[in-house]
Amino acid sequence: MKPDIIPEILFLKQEDVIKAGLLDMDMILAETEKTFRAQGEGKVIQPPKMKLGMPDDDNWESFGNAMPAYINDGTEEVCGIKWAAESVNNPKMQGVPYGIDVVILSNPKTMFPKAILDGTITTAMRTSATAGVFAKYLAVPGAKTAALIGAGVIGRTMIMAMTAAIPTLEEIHLVDLDLAKAEDVAAEFAEGGLYKIAAKVVPMTSAQEAVQGADIIVTETTSRKPFIKKEWLKPNVTCIQMERESFEHDCLLAADIVAVDSYEQLLHHAGIVQTLNEEGKITKDDAVELKDIVTGAVPARTSDGQMVFCKTMGMGMVDIAIANKLYHQAKDMGIGTELTLWDTPLWV
Ligand SMILES: NC(=O)c1ccc[n+]([C@@H]2O[C@H](COP(=O)([O-])OP(=O)(O)OC[C@H]3O[C@@H](n4cnc5c(N)ncnc54)[C@H](O)[C@@H]3O)[C@@H](O)[C@H]2O)c1
Repeated sequence: MKPDIIPEILFLKQEDVIKAGLLDMDMILAETEKTFRAQGEGKVIQPPKMKLGMPDDDNWESFGNAMPAYINDGTEEVCGIKWAAESVNNPKMQGVPYGIDVVILSNPKTMFPKAILDGTITTAMRTSATAGVFAKYLAVPGAKTAALIGAGVIGRTMIMAMTAAIPTLEEIHLVDLDLAKAEDVAAEFAEGGLYKIAAKVVPMTSAQEAVQGADIIVTETTSRKPFIKKEWLKPNVTCIQMERESFEHDCLLAADIVAVDSYEQLLHHAGIVQTLNEEGKITKDDAVELKDIVTGAVPARTSDGQMVFCKTMGMGMVDIAIANKLYHQAKDMGIGTELTLWDTPLWV
């Protein structure tokens, strides 16, 4: 019997998603903010991500996060999953990134997969864009100096996101334990090849020197231990922590506003929020979620004197929204490789 539908899957390798517009940070910021707004309006289903750490869940060498989400924004329904993986073994090899991600998009009516995309650069773009949305709503107005700690993949896209979200930025202190990495990234932006920015990027090795006087601090390192001290911070700083540990825990406790992408999800994963929650030092009521700031359900910064602490773990819904946008743009541009799941299913 001839099947009614032969499921067609558009395969988009990294070069394809880039051609389809992935490096357009203004578009990624807009999609990210729109997705948090949709979540605030109840148009998203996103269970907390599930982690598989290997060979030992706590002291992992590699891990994969399963990140499913469904979005129905009134114009289109889409669902999918990102298999988000990282391995400490990767940076030891030449030319291999630390994070390795794949996105599968499916049609929610049939669950036929419609696209498989490289999600590695999408992750970096949307991770930094999420920090950009936090900064847009929570940084002190007219912020001039940002300290970005970690000059890896996310460090690079963080420069794009911060300069796009905060056009008043004049100087970015870019810190890495490996000064050569920070220097290379700074040189890339000075040349303006991939992305043009007005701010000056200053490479550094001392996190203390970089954060003193900074209006915004974003940490995107692979550290598993806190290393940024409260006494280094400006009183009205906006701190944005992307990884498990970087700020000493009293930095979060000192903040006037604690903002997170998902408190529930943060409780499932080791790190600053889980630890402080277990110690009884914070509860869900002490934090606001980005979705509620974006919709205006809760106020953002209400005075220039407030200190703000943001923590994110990453939201699958943003990957799915951006992957779907790239899927449509790729279809319009005729990019990608068509695959089929089967010619005729053996059993129905
Ligand atoms: N919150 C999210 O949504 C999200 C999403 C993806 C990745 N991440 C996290 O972002 C972090 C960075 O990822 P990446 O892909 O850019 O990794 P990467 O390996 O490309 O870069 C990390 C950089 O941090 C530097 N570094 C490590 N410890 C440091 C320290 N104490 N001080 C200064 N520099 C230090 C390393 O030298 C390296 O250059 C990871 O911890 C990852 O888990 C967060």
